[in-house]
Amino acid sequence: MPETVLTTEDLNKTFRLGLKRRVVEAVRGLSLTVEKGEIYGFLGPNGAGKSTTIKMLMGLIFPTSGTARIFGQPIPSKDAMRSLGYLPENPSFHEFFTPEELLWFFGRLCQMPSGVIADRIPMLLDLVGLQTFAKVPLRRFSKGMVQRAGIAQALINDPALVVLDEPMSGLDPIGRKDVRDIIFRLREQGKTVFFSTHILPDVEAICDRVGLMLKGELRAQGKLESLLTAHTRAVDVIAERVPVQLAELLKARASRTVPKGDGFAFTFLEEGHADEAVATLAGAGARLAQVTRHRETLEDLFVRMAKEAGQSGVGGKVA
Ligand SMILES: Nc1ncnc2c1ncn2[C@@H]1O[C@H](COP(=O)(O)OP(=O)(O)O)[C@@H](O)[C@H]1O
Ligand SMILES: [Mg+2]
Repeated sequence: MPETVLTTEDLNKTFRLGLKRRVVEAVRGLSLTVEKGEIYGFLGPNGAGKSTTIKMLMGLIFPTSGTARIFGQPIPSKDAMRSLGYLPENPSFHEFFTPEELLWFFGRLCQMPSGVIADRIPMLLDLVGLQTFAKVPLRRFSKGMVQRAGIAQALINDPALVVLDEPMSGLDPIGRKDVRDIIFRLREQGKTVFFSTHILPDVEAICDRVGLMLKGELRAQGKLESLLTAHTRAVDVIAERVPVQLAELLKARASRTVPKGDGFAFTFLEEGHADEAVATLAGAGARLAQVTRHRETLEDLFVRMAKEAGQSGVGGKVA
């Protein structure tokens, strides 16, 4: 039985804006669970309600209704906070701090003993790859380096649950890979990682489970393999030395045929048709250069869900 680290039940957050008290339902009826030791990707386009959810979990804003528990404690819980690490979206630290000073500052804030802070700092700077920048002020840092310092900050108290709000946003591909590697290493150390993102390839690469937020609602939750529809969307068959008659037959079957080198690339929408074509081609002495089965990607799922929800991008239902 997996151990639940974080759970929310029918969590809602409504903002009232301006003089007319316009209502924004940022989070609606959110129920999710995060299990111990997993990397959970909290996905959604900008405005979907991810940061609002995370701020509620961190006790920074109060839910309009609903409950959430971290390590079994209802939020906001001081006890739970002791085992929590948090990287806010677009963190901004005093720019005269060095990473070392930043970590001392947050360690003291967490009321950690000096000896423990001093022991952890080199280990954390090593984890995030800032060991040679320990004494360089943050104002000289790139966005990626500040983000790494922010991750180290979130880990100073050796938390069991690490919550990262858009840890990869604004980073170049190498910076994003570095953050992915850090998250992997955290899981290896037995930590649970809950992070939000709108960058889909990052999620496909590292998440054990994902939750997909759209317009303040959780539209899907689960393992990626089970969320992506199992069926193949299309199969490309590239063959050379195809006898003319067979080529004509396959062209009629395929949804698309394009000449390719000495042969053709046939696209079949039905897997069965593709399998038949492969067998016939092989029997007729053609050379099969490539068979590619296209399965649904996370990006396809995202677009499918967004269409179902009737939105193309920006979320947060305005009533
Ligand atoms: N403090 C606030 N006051 C009013 N509206 C807010 C506030 N914070 C967030 N919102 C609105 O709530 C919705 C969700 O925002 P947010 O949680 O930041 O989305 P995400 O993090 O997924 O991009 C958006 O429509 C946003 O404009
Ligand atoms: Mg956000």
